Amino acid sequence: MKEKTDFLVIGSGIAGLSFALQAAAHGRVALVTKKDISESATNYAQGGIATVSSEEDTFDAHVQDTLVAGAGVCHEDVVRMVVEEGPQVIRNLIEWGVQFTKSGDAYDLTREGGHSARRILHAEDITGREIERALVQAVLKHDNITIYEDHIAIDLVTEAKVLKKNLEENRCLGAHVLDRKSGEVRTFTARITLLASGGAGKVYLYTCNPDVATGDGVAMAYRAGATIANMEFMQFHPTTLYHPNARSFLISEAVRGEGAILKRRDGTAFMEKYHHLKDLAPRDIVARAIDNEMKTYGDDCVYLDITHRGAEYITSRFPNIYQTCLEYGIDMTKEMIPVVPAAHYLCGGVAVDKNAETDIKHLYAIGEVAFTGLHGGNRLASNSLLEAAVYAGRAYKHAVQVLKDGEFSFPQIPEWDAGTATNSDEMVVVSQNWDEIRRFMWNYVGIVRSDKRLARAMRRIELIQDEIEEYYWNFIVTSDLIELRNIATVAQLIVACAQMRKESRGLNYNIDYPGVDDVNWKCDTHIKKKF
Ligand code: SIN
Repeated sequence: MKEKTDFLVIGSGIAGLSFALQAAAHGRVALVTKKDISESATNYAQGGIATVSSEEDTFDAHVQDTLVAGAGVCHEDVVRMVVEEGPQVIRNLIEWGVQFTKSGDAYDLTREGGHSARRILHAEDITGREIERALVQAVLKHDNITIYEDHIAIDLVTEAKVLKKNLEENRCLGAHVLDRKSGEVRTFTARITLLASGGAGKVYLYTCNPDVATGDGVAMAYRAGATIANMEFMQFHPTTLYHPNARSFLISEAVRGEGAILKRRDGTAFMEKYHHLKDLAPRDIVARAIDNEMKTYGDDCVYLDITHRGAEYITSRFPNIYQTCLEYGIDMTKEMIPVVPAAHYLCGGVAVDKNAETDIKHLYAIGEVAFTGLHGGNRLASNSLLEAAVYAGRAYKHAVQVLKDGEFSFPQIPEWDAGTATNSDEMVVVSQNWDEIRRFMWNYVGIVRSDKRLARAMRRIELIQDEIEEYYWNFIVTSDLIELRNIATVAQLIVACAQMRKESRGLNYNIDYPGVDDVNWKCDTHIKKKF
């Protein structure tokens, strides 16, 4: 089945939706999303969106905080650009109907780790859900946007792939997309293709990401020949709820921003030992501190204590977290919340320029799937929604200009060819490999790494990848198989980048190189597929 569109948008979080809303004024948009339109990491974001909006705050301070958290490898020009464009994108979000929490007439500003000022706009403790609600509503009203729910992209189609030759300048022509319900593959031809497919937390056994976060965009872009950067910088959120039945529910950093203290089981606070900002130190430091406390004392978790703020404040400021904890039998107004770190945010991704264009023409990437240079070695809390919104605007402006500047012809894109593939009767292969990857990534490529552990992980990935490729060509593609193939690729990219970086910086902590090496490694890691 063939479809033609001006803009193909893959993903339906803040990045994809805000791009689609702007692009739809200039052409037809096909928006492809794996599950329901609202099922994206944005929908689960709790803390908020960082931007300078108070008299006591300055762009310079926000820039400085981002650079400090980024551990010396942020691209300063990008940081300044994103910070300075923040207020405008917030105005756009408000125009599209997002309702941030107010305190009197002014917007209420909260604080999170690494921020020197209160600068985070939020909607209670469900900021992402509110942004998603407003953007989905706006998108649904738009005649120029067609939404394809339950559709998962299999692979990008490029000119080099269609013409079967290496091209000096490759161009993206669209994508093959699987309709998860009917099993049919649609071939989308698009003048502009946008990856807004989010992150890859599912590569790890423990993650607070939703199930859709399987690194599809990074894996597809890598297979298509785009440059991928800084994959070693996977951010572990320090505080997800520790409970046998909770699927890594996030306890927002805003809880610490509003005074919560990390403690051991016996009630001893410990962050003072690790950083002068204590519980509000940058995330990499807090996550490693918790990991160290758990290992030192043989505990399964640590605890977050906000009981001193009183029940009235806690229930009105954190209604969602309060209610969820209560469902698991924990009353956070009276007792400490058991927490552990979990994979949260991929700071690396598909390398893009300031217009969000990748090194494949007409292919753009924004949001968590992209590497812009903003986050460096460790993302400052609440900078991600900001980055996605800023880059959506930049990508859309650039893409529209590209369309205006040139009429371009399309080579005939062949339809999906399933060859002699048959239905698999061995789904256990998929689930076995899926579990194995996530487990060894957690154990060997987690918060603390070593050369030996990385080498072990790489050996296993290579074996698993051979098996997946064989399976992929022999059997009819399913959503599970596509996701497995993608998490294997992303795992390989994370390990490969971690093996390149022979130092400990930000989120990449390797016990064989415990120090920062500014002489050799004050730079990004890059990786590109050889054809
Ligand atoms: C949180 O609420 O702690 C997450 C915010 C973020 O990751 O930016």
